[in-house]
Amino acid sequence: MMNKGRIFSGMQPSGRFHLGNYMGALENWVRLQHEYECFFSIVDLHALTSSYADTSKLQENVMEMAIDWLSAGLDPEKNVIFVQSHVKEHAELALLLGMSTPLGWLERVPTYKDKIRDLEGTNKDLHTYGFLGYPVLMAADIMLYKATCVPVGEDQSAHLELTREIVRRFNYMYKKEVFPEPQAVYSKAKVLPGIDGRKMSKSYGNTIPFGASAEELWQQVRMMTTDPKRIKKTDPGDPNVCIVYQFHKVFNTEEANNIAAQCCAGSIGCVQCKKMLAEKMNSMLADIHIKREELSKKPGYIKEVLEYGAKRARVEAEKNMAEIKAAMNIW
Ligand code: TRP
Repeated sequence: MMNKGRIFSGMQPSGRFHLGNYMGALENWVRLQHEYECFFSIVDLHALTSSYADTSKLQENVMEMAIDWLSAGLDPEKNVIFVQSHVKEHAELALLLGMSTPLGWLERVPTYKDKIRDLEGTNKDLHTYGFLGYPVLMAADIMLYKATCVPVGEDQSAHLELTREIVRRFNYMYKKEVFPEPQAVYSKAKVLPGIDGRKMSKSYGNTIPFGASAEELWQQVRMMTTDPKRIKKTDPGDPNVCIVYQFHKVFNTEEANNIAAQCCAGSIGCVQCKKMLAEKMNSMLADIHIKREELSKKPGYIKEVLEYGAKRARVEAEKNMAEIKAAMNIW
């Protein structure tokens, strides 16, 4: 156990977690916790880079995220689970790294200009110092613990590449191999569409909440778009244009082929097919739902878990910060 290296990863606490987030990242973490030494952080400072104006939900979102992680099976003993802002060295190291990070590197991050453009016309103005510095803060997260591996999705690979450049530059400038170059750990994330077939996203209102009850699950599955050409049960359907089938492939792998064949033959109705899916999803998610309900009633316990994680993170952060400052002749 714990022989493959050290992982750091983070997630922004930005509202209720959905099943797409779970299948995309958290499910991988739950597996990785058995193979690596892991630091998992709820990155509330990152959330501020775009949601700085209205912070009224921030604490609540942090608590919800901790509940999601624990109910999914992340073990707070095995992993260091903590809130980014509880360890002040994240901010300190981000400031130090910001001194030497060229503006051009940051402006060139592909998602930078895209995201600003996406949010134009909304109440989020991202022409800020903090938003430009997002990748520097992320580099600080990873480097503070000298992490060697970072599980990331495709969307984060440019950020990780930038971290590697910042590492190389630091080690070169201060003539000391302080930091390892972190490697990406790609895992085949299962991509779940939203119930309407677009990307699952809160802003589209097409998500399935993580920890949904059987009733909530059925409500969402019931609404999933199916083959629009299929009117009657006996009409042959095309599973490839059906969202229900996409979900069967993820949650009901063994029966998915068989169901597709019945759909093509017009021998299974959409309602029945949806019932089968909802049942399957529920049997996979029922335990998580129960755990989530339980943990939601124990905010005191959640806070203890996060405080315990922060204590453990601080030990490592303080030790590494001392070495970083020494390399930079700061005392
Ligand atoms: N930028 C990541 C995201 O939006 C979150 C994050 C912050 C992160 N710090 C990190 C991920 C460090 C990996 C490592 O998903």
